[in-house]
Amino acid sequence: MRKPVMAGNWKMNCDIAEAEALADGVTAHGGQVEDALVILCPPFVALTTVQKSIANSNIKLGGQNMFWEDEGAFTGETSPKMLLACGCEYVIIGHSERRGRFGAPDEADVEDLDAVFGDTDATVNRKVRSALDAGLKPIICCGELLGERQAGDTDAVVAGQVEAALQGVAADEAANIIIAYEPVWAIGTGEVCDADEANRVCGMVRETVADVFSQDVADNMQVLYGGSVKPENVEGLMAQEHIDGGLVGGASLDAASFGALIDAAAASAQ
Ligand code: PGA
Repeated sequence: MRKPVMAGNWKMNCDIAEAEALADGVTAHGGQVEDALVILCPPFVALTTVQKSIANSNIKLGGQNMFWEDEGAFTGETSPKMLLACGCEYVIIGHSERRGRFGAPDEADVEDLDAVFGDTDATVNRKVRSALDAGLKPIICCGELLGERQAGDTDAVVAGQVEAALQGVAADEAANIIIAYEPVWAIGTGEVCDADEANRVCGMVRETVADVFSQDVADNMQVLYGGSVKPENVEGLMAQEHIDGGLVGGASLDAASFGALIDAAAASAQ
């Protein structure tokens, strides 16, 4: 039985005081939940603050990104060692916003965003291997653009991202990996992917993991759906065979709505 997961990706939201208030609110609601794994991924500058808020709870801490080197002349980057020192157990790797596939600031086009954020299949793979070496558990993100879906390329794109991310990873490390399927067109748009279709793609992700490692590894891998998950649609998503939880942006910024998502994840374990 795979444990349900509810992970909050706060993205570039919350100053220190807001992060503390939100983490306190989430902890008050879902801090003692045992039937679901709850992970909070605040901005780097708020990690230590959130760590203090969740210290006596079951909630885990995650980073939103990392660089693969331990230290050095890499201005603005954050190493796995630093995340561990802040109390992180998890780290999101290869979010579509970091791959420059979504979230255009100002008038920037996608080419510009590639240069700004820069994650590729190759850097995602290096980060995954580095996270595992350091003892961090990567939450690997994959997902297709609207144009790729319309062209019928969803499965090829998503499977390709998963295979690339897992290159050089040993089967015995796979228990420390979570994969999040996040169709780019559903992120932050309010447009959730149909639960049936999200389940189909998450199942395809699981098959890809089986091809890379083994059926046993795939059967135990937690595969999440992300993209406009909210209290109104979470039950339908959690009821799906291949969806083990959510990676949540917008609805994780409100303690009551994230609390409802935690409850739904825990209830799905029954
Ligand atoms: P959303 O973001 O829930 O705001 O759509 C999800 C994500 O990007 O992880």
